[in-house]
Amino acid sequence: MALYFSLILHDMSDLFFLSTGHLRASCMMESMKLLNQSQVSVFILLGLTSSQDIQFLLFALFLVIYVVTVLGNLLIIVTVFNTPNLNTPMYFLLGNLSFVDMTLASFATPKMILNLLKKQKIISFAGCFTQIFLLHLLGGVEMVLLVSMAFDRYVAICKPLHYMTIMNKKVCVLLVVTSWLLGLLHSGLQIPFAVNLPFCSPNVVDSIFCDLPLVTKLACIDTYFVQIVIVANSGIISLSCFIILLISYSLILITVKNHSPTGQSKAHSTLTAHITVVILFFGPCIFIYIWPFSNDSVDKFLAVFYTIITPILNPIIYTLRNKEMKISMRKLWRAFVNSREDT
Ligand SMILES: *[C@@H]1O[C@H](CO)[C@@H](O)[C@H](O)[C@H]1NC(C)=O
Repeated sequence: MALYFSLILHDMSDLFFLSTGHLRASCMMESMKLLNQSQVSVFILLGLTSSQDIQFLLFALFLVIYVVTVLGNLLIIVTVFNTPNLNTPMYFLLGNLSFVDMTLASFATPKMILNLLKKQKIISFAGCFTQIFLLHLLGGVEMVLLVSMAFDRYVAICKPLHYMTIMNKKVCVLLVVTSWLLGLLHSGLQIPFAVNLPFCSPNVVDSIFCDLPLVTKLACIDTYFVQIVIVANSGIISLSCFIILLISYSLILITVKNHSPTGQSKAHSTLTAHITVVILFFGPCIFIYIWPFSNDSVDKFLAVFYTIITPILNPIIYTLRNKEMKISMRKLWRAFVNSREDT
């Protein structure tokens, strides 16, 4: 009996040593693979579709949208700067939002548009992480600016008598500076986690630009911790901004409801504009970062929303629906034409 046990023990220890030896070997192989593969220097972006015809169609469509976005936002900035009447907090913030929209539309879209015509859609390691940094910086700034604009409307509608004292020049500049600082903080906090990951050979990003959830999945170590950091960081900023916006717009709507019909219709048209932008911007962000069941092929179409659709919404909404803006633009145009006739 004792012999039998010692035999079994012997066998087991053999088995044990065998398996640890095997484990050690596979560990070494893993780490060698790590060493080889952490030198991924480029990523490949798959883009929206592989069909040539659709890509060509999208090329034309996105190019038109991009040009209109840049020109429209530039027009808003020029108009705000050159019209004394528009020297109010709302237009100050709107001018800054236009600037952010323009950069948000420009950090990845031109490359994505050119990629639609290319077979190999390659982006360098540095390029990929620059895109991630800018996306989160500008996305964060845009969110906080939208909150600032909602705050401005809240004060204007719910506390009209104190509007000029609360929203003075200093506060406006402070709101803009704060939005950039928060954007920088939001983006700067998560980049160090992602950029130091070792990356493996499948270097294919199934999207139109690099973003954290997809890129961190390509790392050859377990990225559970990094994923948590990403979801927490992006989730907290987008969800908290969204909730603040919901509350302030509810308060505004309740106040507007008890007002005169003329004030109501004016407030309603501004509010509808703001709320449309907010929903189209935050919807996709929250879905991508917080919704646990989202899948990548849906995510990349949603990414189109906040980099291509939202930046063009401002010019459309604020020039086509806003009488003050339209009048100012027409005046500016007339002054421009007259000055050319004089010379
Ligand atoms: C945006 O904000 C900056 C700094 O607060 C300000 O100097 C600038 O005039 C603003 N831009 C527009 C277009 O209003």
